[in-house]
Amino acid sequence: MRVPEWRPALTVAHDAALDWLESLDQRSVRPDADYDTMYAALAEPMPENGMPPQQVIADLARTIEPGLMAMNHGRFFGWVIGGATPAGVAADWLVAAWDQNTAMSEPTPGASAVEAVTAEWLLELLDLPRTSSVAFVTGAQVANLVCLAAARDRVLADAGWDVEADGLLGAPPVTVLAGEYVHHTVGRAVRILGLGEARIVMVPADSNARMRPDALATALSAVEGPAIVCGQGGEIATGGIDPLAKLADIVDARRTTAPTWFHIDGAIGLFGRASAVLAPKFSGAERADSWCTDAHKWLNTPYDCGIAIVRDREAHHRAMTLHASYLPEPGAARDPIDWNPEMSRRARAMAVYATLRSLGRSGVAEIAERDCEMARLLAEGIGMIPGAEVCNEVELNQVLVRVHDPAGQDDDAHTRAVLSRIQTSGVAYPSGTTFEGRAAIRFSVANWSTDEADIVETLEALSDAHTRWG
Ligand SMILES: Cc1ncc(COP(=O)(O)O)c(C=O)c1O
Repeated sequence: MRVPEWRPALTVAHDAALDWLESLDQRSVRPDADYDTMYAALAEPMPENGMPPQQVIADLARTIEPGLMAMNHGRFFGWVIGGATPAGVAADWLVAAWDQNTAMSEPTPGASAVEAVTAEWLLELLDLPRTSSVAFVTGAQVANLVCLAAARDRVLADAGWDVEADGLLGAPPVTVLAGEYVHHTVGRAVRILGLGEARIVMVPADSNARMRPDALATALSAVEGPAIVCGQGGEIATGGIDPLAKLADIVDARRTTAPTWFHIDGAIGLFGRASAVLAPKFSGAERADSWCTDAHKWLNTPYDCGIAIVRDREAHHRAMTLHASYLPEPGAARDPIDWNPEMSRRARAMAVYATLRSLGRSGVAEIAERDCEMARLLAEGIGMIPGAEVCNEVELNQVLVRVHDPAGQDDDAHTRAVLSRIQTSGVAYPSGTTFEGRAAIRFSVANWSTDEADIVETLEALSDAHTRWG
């Protein structure tokens, strides 16, 4: 075996990583360089000959640093993006160094056992049925897909149809119902599964984007045959949590007459169940059939890791399993390949394991509680800025803001200008959206390190952007 010199390149990478991480709090949150600048800096012809790895890594780190967003900064509030913790980052480094194709337990018992133990810990932490099956996938998009594939399998099997063998041609129609503020990734999962995104029955929601139970009952009563109901634990703009126990009652009542599945997209909020304070908001979630969440959001693992959890192991297994004669015979141990839509795959549960072991339940709960508290503080402060308005009920960690034009002209244009000014300031980075047809600024507080000082600086930046600029 040829033994390369590992140390020079890894030492450069180690130093560059620490330089980045240890200077985060003094950095501008937004990148200094734009995409075109970055592209021009990188776009050289495909190299004919190589160069020493340490030089590649040093050049790479130096070149792209101006184009990096400080996404794990305490004042990064864009989309819904958690930071990364020391244990998670370090474990993820080892994932690359160990280079385990984590598909089967026989060739990689260590990585597979980590995945199995992490799955058990998650079920305990989130207080979901302990016999559920768990898949570690790239993100909530794929987690929604895996859960809905299991749902499709089960509701059709109960209607006498084997969708895995026979596909959808000639199958009984399956109706998907979701709140009108369902996340777009559920729509894409439904599309990939051949159930037709445009056929989703959109159930009206209340003012905080929560599915209305009375509206679900009405919509479901008009549906015949197999149905899949998609609830949500944290809406992308408002953080609104569907009344999950009431939705579960409605689904349970229907189960007696037709195959019905209850899925919860908990990409944003499900880790709230780790906290005794927040868990009551998610009460009833444990009665669902499947749950999607993201480790790279509120658990603050480095990208990427989504998690699919399914009560009905058989349906999950049937929808995802894969075997081939050139692979080891399946044994008693859990093989990751049986639960994911991937064959070869990285050991992405390693960072989840390390994060859970390093934080413990109390640490996970503390992050969730602190972020909600910081979101409340932010909302309170915004409420005191004349002309600024919090448009959502802050029930979780999302704050939706609109800023009125002091000239009394165009509030949408002013809100967008304020957003752009805050982003450009580099002090904080919220992202934007259109909510109920009106421009809004979204603050998503999902980072473990965000503290009161970050909130004070963010409020100053918002106030400046609103009153002093332009
Ligand atoms: C409710 C919800 N579901 C699904 C997703 C998709 O998550 P991912 O980007 O990890 O695929 C998001 C992303 O923000 C979300 O908010």
